[in-house]
Amino acid sequence: MNWRRALLSPPACRDLPRLKRAVQGRTVLVTGASSGIGAATACQLGRAGATVLLLARRDAALQEVAARIEAAGGRAVVMPADLSDPAQVQAVAARLLSEFPALHAVISSAGRSVRRRAQDGAARRDLERLLAVNFSGPAALLLALRPALESGRAVIVNVSSVSARHVGAPRWAAYQGSKAGFDLWLQAAAAEWSGVRAASVYLPLVRTPMVAPTQAYRYLPALSADEAAQAVTLPLVSPVVRVAPWWLGAVEVAGLIAPGALARALRHLEATEVRWAARR
Ligand SMILES: NC(=O)c1ccc[n+]([C@@H]2O[C@H](COP(=O)([O-])OP(=O)(O)OC[C@H]3O[C@@H](n4cnc5c(N)ncnc54)[C@H](OP(=O)(O)O)[C@@H]3O)[C@@H](O)[C@H]2O)c1
Repeated sequence: MNWRRALLSPPACRDLPRLKRAVQGRTVLVTGASSGIGAATACQLGRAGATVLLLARRDAALQEVAARIEAAGGRAVVMPADLSDPAQVQAVAARLLSEFPALHAVISSAGRSVRRRAQDGAARRDLERLLAVNFSGPAALLLALRPALESGRAVIVNVSSVSARHVGAPRWAAYQGSKAGFDLWLQAAAAEWSGVRAASVYLPLVRTPMVAPTQAYRYLPALSADEAAQAVTLPLVSPVVRVAPWWLGAVEVAGLIAPGALARALRHLEATEVRWAARR
C-alpha cells in the first residue's frame, strides 16, 4: 500500500491501454506544456497516441518536450504563446483553428502562483499578473477556440487546486482568487457550448518548479508531476466533471459547518509566521 499516494492522490488513470483507447488518433491541446504537470501530461498523452499541441511561452522548453514525445513514437506540435498577452492569445488561436479545426481535448495547465501578503503584492501587481495567466488568458483562448471545441466535442480539463475550494488562506489571495474564479467561469461557459464537457481536477501539493521557491513546502508530502498527470487524464477516459482527493469534500463540509473555526486557525498560523519573521 502506497500511503503517500493513498492520502494525497485524487482518483487517477494509471492504465496506459485505457488512455490509448480514449485518445489515440485524437488532437489534444496542452497549455503549460513546457514544465511540471503540463509537460508530464503531454508526455503521457503522446505515449498514448494523441497528437499533442504544446503551448507555453518558452519555445526551447516546448521543443524539448516535443522531442521526448517524438522519441517515444508520438506526435507533437509546438505552439509558443504568452497567455497574458491578448494579441498572442488571438494569434495562437487563429493558428490552432486553421491547422486543427477539431480539438478533442484541452488540458488547461498554464498557471503561476505567488505566495505573498495581498497588501505587499499590490505594488507588484500580483492580482493583475495572476488573473492574466490563471483566468483571463485561458478564458480568452477557450472563447476564441469555441468552433474547434464544439466540432471536436472536446473535454476541457482545468488543472485546478484544492485551494480553489477551501476557505481563503493568508498570502494566497491572488492565487486562490484567480484559480477559483477561472474554475467557476469555465463551468458556466462550457455549459453554453454544444457537446463540450468541462472537468476540474483539484490537485494537492505537486513537486514542480512552481512550488520550489516556497521553503515550507520542501518538507510536506507531495505528488510527483507524473502522478498528478495521471489524475489530469482521468476525465479523458471517464465522464467525470470533478476529480479531487477524498479529503477535499470533508474540508469543504468543515468550511460550511464551522467557517469561523477554520478562518481562526488560518489567522493563528499567519500571526505565528509574522512573529517568527520578526524574531529572525
Ligand atoms: N504544483 C502544485 O503544487 C500545484 C497544485 C495544484 C494546482 N497546480 C496547478 O497546476 C498547473 C501547472 O503548475 P505546475 O506546478 O506544473 O507549475 P510549473 O512547472 O511552473 O508550470 C507552469 C506552466 O505554465 C506555463 N506558463 C506560465 N505563465 C505562462 C504564460 N503567461 N503563458 C503561457 N504559459 C505560461 C509555464 O511555461 P512558460 O514559463 O514556458 O510559459 C509552465 O509550462 C498550474 O495551473 C497550477 O496552478 C499546481
